Amino acid sequence: MKCEPLFPPPWPQPNGRRALITGITGQDGSYLAELLLSKGYEVWGVVRRSSSITTWRIDHLYEPPWQEDRRLNLVYGDLNDASSLNRILKTVRPDEVYNLGAQSHVKVSFEIPEYTAEVVGVGAVRVLEAMRELGLEARFYQASSSELYGGAREAPQTETTPFYPRSPYAAAKAYAFFITRNYREAYGMFAANGILFNHESPRRGETFVTRKITQAVARIHAGHQDTLFLGNLDAKRDWGFAGDYVQAMWLMLQTDEPDDFVIATGETHSVREFCELAFARVKLPLTWRGQGLDEQGLGPDGRCLVRVDPRYFRPSEVELLLGDASKARTRLGWEPTTRFAALVEMMVEADLKAL
Ligand code: NAP
Ligand code: GDD
Repeated sequence: MKCEPLFPPPWPQPNGRRALITGITGQDGSYLAELLLSKGYEVWGVVRRSSSITTWRIDHLYEPPWQEDRRLNLVYGDLNDASSLNRILKTVRPDEVYNLGAQSHVKVSFEIPEYTAEVVGVGAVRVLEAMRELGLEARFYQASSSELYGGAREAPQTETTPFYPRSPYAAAKAYAFFITRNYREAYGMFAANGILFNHESPRRGETFVTRKITQAVARIHAGHQDTLFLGNLDAKRDWGFAGDYVQAMWLMLQTDEPDDFVIATGETHSVREFCELAFARVKLPLTWRGQGLDEQGLGPDGRCLVRVDPRYFRPSEVELLLGDASKARTRLGWEPTTRFAALVEMMVEADLKAL
């Protein structure tokens, strides 16, 4: 798939600042790289070795290594390999470090809990410790998550809502959150946690529920697929647009004092509502029939377009996430620009175009 740039070139004159991004090949890493390049940064991205090429989200930003004035540089490294992180930080000496790398799929984390803990939890302290040992004065951003709230008793969730992780992924993110705060308090490092609620885009990984739905809608519309199989239709999420959320990451590293911030839209919707809006976009309004595992989403001609498959249920589910980003609004001047209906439309349109 070809990515439409959100912050297109030409890049402005260099601003003399250098940023390092772990997870640059992911959804957020690609938007953040674009944003930083559009602000004049020199951007370095950590890429892990894979048997197939994983750079499709940043291919439109690629500059060959022999281009002398290139602004985007990729280096091999891995959050599971402290020596690679040390070497990269020592040679790049960034001003800002964005730790976005992760095994970021919640359901998969139940299947590979130990690996998830290594990459998501210990990975964060590997970066922080390398920065401390090198005496780097770089500012550090940790990609914390609304999954930390998991089974929280209050909604909306704010920076003071107690954490209640409900998956190995969330438990690992809790370690990363607290070690980030600890390095700030213990060593005076500029280390900030962005507690980001779900954010989506046409670049979202294909196994996250929003993209799975919009891709299926496009395929069903084109006659390439009959039915979409989903898990819990009643889970509710506060879904925003990734392009807005990377702006918040950058703003968090431009403040006078490091702090932790919730980033959210303040609206919550169910998986079911997401399906309804996405199918309606291609003139296939859904009617729900049946209960539980037998529930079906029927198209206007009675065809079964959505079914429930228990394989997509999680051993422990997060039923409701709803964020209150008042602190970010007041202190960072951050506001989401894209609301739920516009996000669904953007994603369906992109998947229709990609077919
Ligand atoms: P994503 O699309 O899954 O991207 C994850 C990135 O991490 C990819 O570049 C991946 O590389 C890289 N990665 C995986 N394992 C690694 C390892 N061992 N060493 C180095 N890099 C590794 O995730 P995203 O949606 O962009 O999210 C970015 C970050 O924000 C993640 O930490 C995620 O947990 C967190 N977060 C996301 C959301 C959200 O709604 N999107 C909300 C809150 C927090 P490959 O391309 O090689 O796989
Ligand atoms: N993936 C998926 N696939 N989820 C499904 C499906 C399905 O077929 N059917 C229902 N769901 C439900 C899940 O059970 C969950 O309640 C909800 O849809 C959202 O699932 P995901 O899109 O996989 O995202 P997530 O909320 O678990 O995690 C994402 O957001 C977190 C922030 O809250 C990831 O990006 C995490 O990395 C991130 O931290």
